[in-house]
Amino acid sequence: MTIDYTWWKDASIYQIWPASYKDSNGDGIGDIPGIISELDYIKDLGVDIIWLSPMYKSPMEDMGYDISDYEDINPDFGTLQDMQDLIDGCHTRGLKIICDLVVNHTSSEHEWFKESRSSLDSPKRDWYIWKKPKYDAEGNRQPPNNWMSYFSGSAWEYDETTGEYYLRLFAKGQPDLNWENEECRKAIYDSALKFWLDRGVDGFRIDVAGFYSKDQSFGDAPIFFKDQIYQPSKSLTSNGPRIHEFHKEMTREVISKYDVMTVGEMCHWNKEEALKYVGASRKEMNMMFIFDLVELGCENSDRFLYSHWNLLDFKNAVQNQSDFIKGSDAWSTVFIENHDQPRCVTRFGNDKKHHAASAKLLAMLQTTLTGTLFIYQGQEIGMTNLPKSWSIEEYKDVYTTNYYKEFVKKYENEPDFEDKKSKLMDVINLVARDHSRSPVQWSAARYGGFSTVEPWTQVNDNYPEINVKLQQHNPDSVLRFYQQSLKLRKQYKDLFIYGSFEILDYDNEKVFTYVKESGSDVLPKAYVVLNFSGDKVEFTPLIKGDFKLVSSNVMESEFEQSSLSPFEGRIYIVE
Ligand code: NOJ
Repeated sequence: MTIDYTWWKDASIYQIWPASYKDSNGDGIGDIPGIISELDYIKDLGVDIIWLSPMYKSPMEDMGYDISDYEDINPDFGTLQDMQDLIDGCHTRGLKIICDLVVNHTSSEHEWFKESRSSLDSPKRDWYIWKKPKYDAEGNRQPPNNWMSYFSGSAWEYDETTGEYYLRLFAKGQPDLNWENEECRKAIYDSALKFWLDRGVDGFRIDVAGFYSKDQSFGDAPIFFKDQIYQPSKSLTSNGPRIHEFHKEMTREVISKYDVMTVGEMCHWNKEEALKYVGASRKEMNMMFIFDLVELGCENSDRFLYSHWNLLDFKNAVQNQSDFIKGSDAWSTVFIENHDQPRCVTRFGNDKKHHAASAKLLAMLQTTLTGTLFIYQGQEIGMTNLPKSWSIEEYKDVYTTNYYKEFVKKYENEPDFEDKKSKLMDVINLVARDHSRSPVQWSAARYGGFSTVEPWTQVNDNYPEINVKLQQHNPDSVLRFYQQSLKLRKQYKDLFIYGSFEILDYDNEKVFTYVKESGSDVLPKAYVVLNFSGDKVEFTPLIKGDFKLVSSNVMESEFEQSSLSPFEGRIYIVE
């Protein structure tokens, strides 16, 4: 088998969410100079590319995913010159940098939208999606259809100026662009893509990449939640009729003219549809994020409707993400955290009794899977979810706060409201987006060394025990383990990055064992065994061969050949 090595396939990518990375000017908000000051730390970690979440000008209703000027920087984060310094600072160190491409919608503060909303015959009226109201039997004004916003309530917003509704699949201030309009598409290409590619960025993470083409009938979505008016619109707004035409055009007209990479966020997928986006010969995007693993237990259209999962579901999800490209020319991604997900050590490990062991176990899983690897800021030190004792007031994310408000409106008069509320809080405490958005814990200094003043959102209480500085000085820390694991991934890249993946103990509810092979007879196999339980379990190799241990997350003195301690993991090379 010949392997098609490519820089973006080999790469480990480190995601930075600017508001919470590092504050350099003492205003309590992370900024670009703060990121620049940590570039050597990032390089030392052993990653190759930085993915910077939106740093553009924005009123921050959705923390920068509501962009009011693609060609400028949020003043809280810095200036255009700072951004150029960041791009150059990465390149000098041999790092690349990709930006977020958020072009399904803009902010309602964007000049394009201000112009569009100003009158029915504005030249940019058609750049957004405007519809006339509907009226019910009593003559009350209603949205044009029953589509639900991802952030609760209707996906339509009434605008007094012209007496019409605009579509906004996300927050109120995030109007959807009308990709049907060619002039609008060209403006997007120039402003959101070319502007940055010409300044040296090395590619994009494409926000909600499957949403640009909407079903033009704008009919009602099928009823999914029987007790709700508004319904998930995915069958009419995701993977729509012209979506591939749009991606092909964007690649042909802009992206293909630069040596850059793209990774799309894919919210609703099946294998056949996915391959249309990321099949190499399709010339759309290089790879995509699939959410089966991080969304385990969550209802696809409402993450706060949460039920339990077991290790078999977990294995299934890992397998799906890796297998969908089998037999094709497509490429996949590996990730377990990002700015929209909780912390993996809380969600999939044990962040109290076995914090270090389970954070390292997840590092072993991530660094041995096939595809381009993404690590989220703080994951490398095992940052955890926010404390359970924190009240809803500490949660800042529009997704969580809107959901909570709607919930209170709906249930506050019911006799079991308190019980329902405490159950919801348990789920929020497990899966809210806020958990990954608390400031990075740099040291045991006040505010975790993130800032010299009270940060825009609270630092997790556990910063004195979990922080970068402490872990830099500890050879057995999670941070050091990530550094070693990233090296090992590169050392055996034919097995880990490019190799095949086969689960050996599918029915085992405690242990996850798999083999990675390069497909070549000459090279050895990798054998990965991960105890995902808090129990001590027996260990007997499931294949024959000469086993050489190359990675372990327990101290040598605690290592027992024939058993695995709680959350123990091992990586062997088998000849
Ligand atoms: C996906 C982004 O990851 C998320 O943070 C954002 O809220 C939505 N897209 C809307 O842009």
